[in-house]
Amino acid sequence: MNILIVGGGGREHALAWKIAQSEKCDKLYFAPGNAGTAELGENLSIQADDIPVVVAAAKEKDIDLLVVGPEDPLADGMVDTVRAEGIMCFGPVAEGAKLEADKAFAKELMRIASVPTAETRIFTDLRNARDYVLSRDQGVVVKAAGLAKGKGVFVCPEPHMAVKPLEQIMSEKIFGAAGATVLVEELLTGQEASVLALCDGKSIYPLEPCQDHKPIGDGDTGPNTGGMGAYSPTPVVDSTMMAGIEREILVPIVDAMRRSFGRYEGCLYAGIMLTPAGPKVLEFNCRFGDPETQPLMMRLKSDLVEAMVATCEHKLDEIEIEWDPRPAVCVVMASGGYPGSYEKGHEITGIAEADALGDVKVFHAGTAIADGKTVTAGGRVLGVTALGDTIADAQKRAYEAVDKIHFKDACYRRDIADKALQK
Ligand code: AMP
Ligand code: GLY
Repeated sequence: MNILIVGGGGREHALAWKIAQSEKCDKLYFAPGNAGTAELGENLSIQADDIPVVVAAAKEKDIDLLVVGPEDPLADGMVDTVRAEGIMCFGPVAEGAKLEADKAFAKELMRIASVPTAETRIFTDLRNARDYVLSRDQGVVVKAAGLAKGKGVFVCPEPHMAVKPLEQIMSEKIFGAAGATVLVEELLTGQEASVLALCDGKSIYPLEPCQDHKPIGDGDTGPNTGGMGAYSPTPVVDSTMMAGIEREILVPIVDAMRRSFGRYEGCLYAGIMLTPAGPKVLEFNCRFGDPETQPLMMRLKSDLVEAMVATCEHKLDEIEIEWDPRPAVCVVMASGGYPGSYEKGHEITGIAEADALGDVKVFHAGTAIADGKTVTAGGRVLGVTALGDTIADAQKRAYEAVDKIHFKDACYRRDIADKALQK
């Protein structure tokens, strides 16, 4: 099969690395890819959200399967358009992607489906939102309803701390139209987990549970990012809890979507807080997680192309997905300044040395080739991922690999997977 992967982050490199191992994969293309994907196939200079150009390239390259990585093209209807051309496409249609692209819509669907989640109020007026938070005596979480690259959420342990983000989102419009509607949620506490599932419109197939690390700083301090590291499996989700999450969260939301617009197909991602009152949904994403995909792909033993085709052909009930029982830990190396502004174009050294360590894979995210050198080209630059016999071993090996890699102002958390060890 000729396969086109849309996107150019760590998630797409990890998916590509696994897809390239499949006997079913002939040619692999990327729109636009990064320096890592260039080693696996052909990078096309096409932006991930340029739907007409992606569709034209898919036809020209005789693509049999198109995989959409990021949320923006999904929300803009890339899957709808590609399928209309008769090309197999992995991902939900625009209506399904609304589950991520419109947090107010997602909340309403959760309410209808009785999916446990934080108590929420929705606002379009700054004064009403401000009056509401100041009337609270408990911490709150402020969220832009639209897509904001994982940066649109502000956790405010004291209600007055919510005023500034509300002003930034609703008055200064730092997220543009994505902040026209704002959610104010009760602040939940507990460990977090990411549970991803393949969905074919009829059945769902949950993948192994992961834990992400969203804030930039060690000990979960500082602003939220797209994710600074992840590991899988996580001991905070045991098999009983996983069964409960499937029964009380994944199945009802997929059913509610079927009633609302039709079949949800692709990967469904539930960000979950394991509260003292049980698992509650923080967010749904309509795609594979980044960086959760990196440890998941390291552990996946089955053929990913087969699983994706089974998803597209509504045959998930006919496949078995096998995992390496060993845990994998991914440490994200980012550009100094991220998630704020950062410089690009710094040379990266040591990737080959890190990759040469056994059971280590350096997934590229924001990288590019310039003058024959690999350089930084984004906020999250690399996802350095290692398997180990235990989580502690995988963690140690991931950091050994990180130590071999250098670029100016590189920044990364030193505590990825510590939570698993404290459990
Ligand atoms: P989200 O993008 O909605 O998953 O939010 C990003 C991060 O903000 C989550 O991973 C949590 O760490 C935190 N967060 C979101 N909603 C809540 C909440 N209601 N209570 C506490 N923390 C939250
Ligand atoms: N790791 C969080 C996300 O993919 O949204």
